[in-house]
Amino acid sequence: MASPQGTGPMKGIVLAGGAGTRLYPITQVASKQLQPVYDKPMIYYPLATLLEAGITDVLLISTPDDLPRFRALLGDGSRWGFTIRYAPQPRPEGIAQAFLIGEDFVDGDPVCLILGDNIFYGGSETERAVAEFESGALIFGYPVRNPRRYGVVELDADGNVVSLVEKPERPRSNLAVPGLYVYDARVVDLARALRPSARGELEITDLNRAYLELGELRVVRLSRGVAWLDSGTHDSLLDAANYVATIEHRQGTKIACIEEIAYRRGLITRDHLAALVAAMPPSGYREYLERVVLAEEFTG
Ligand code: G1P
Repeated sequence: MASPQGTGPMKGIVLAGGAGTRLYPITQVASKQLQPVYDKPMIYYPLATLLEAGITDVLLISTPDDLPRFRALLGDGSRWGFTIRYAPQPRPEGIAQAFLIGEDFVDGDPVCLILGDNIFYGGSETERAVAEFESGALIFGYPVRNPRRYGVVELDADGNVVSLVEKPERPRSNLAVPGLYVYDARVVDLARALRPSARGELEITDLNRAYLELGELRVVRLSRGVAWLDSGTHDSLLDAANYVATIEHRQGTKIACIEEIAYRRGLITRDHLAALVAAMPPSGYREYLERVVLAEEFTG
């Protein structure tokens, strides 16, 4: 039986649209979010963030050209114990358009949006904040050296929002707003009321300001223990890959290994994981997962 409106578990949207022009010529044949970040496609990282937050019903939005490639890579999610659906964004008309495209998917439930080029690692602050979400809107603030590239939020001493501006010339704080947002079901109506900005897009910052005006925007300041990386330029893509490689080499673990997360979260059994691994071609990725399966034999 379908759950009544607004009482279902939180849904997740990954927005992997855009032309990725800043990564030209890499993005001539496949979108930015399909490019590798060290040992796996970029899209694995935001998907992993949603899974770690307990979200198992996902809508992936991308360009009509790229959707078949995402589908080939990820399928319907069932082999990993969750659900991925797909919807096109024909033109890059803004992040907030995700809620108009995904209106039927949201269907009265709370929803978490993550941008397909945003990578989070470390601590559990984002997962906890998402899991504890009740109503209104929740965004994050993260200190960066050059906030001008981002939405920038200014907080007072009590953590209340003083200002929120998209890519300001003169930032009033060093707190960038990462591409991870949580909303209650009103988001669809509020997105519908937005008007395109000067660059012709429905701006996510305008949507957040709509919640701010309602007095229902909460900002969680992420501590420095959390790594937030984006990967939309050649340098930030290389930085992200180096970061992932450094942590993985040091710890002997993998960041954003979807199969491992699905297994550890109980979405798939060990037998199922072992079967997935058996079907993988010889690779470092497979060897890692073989160890995950075996380690459980020692301890489990
Ligand atoms: C978008 C948002 C911006 C946010 C950023 C996070 O910018 O408009 O508010 O801080 O994502 O990655 P874009 O990267 O699309 O220019």
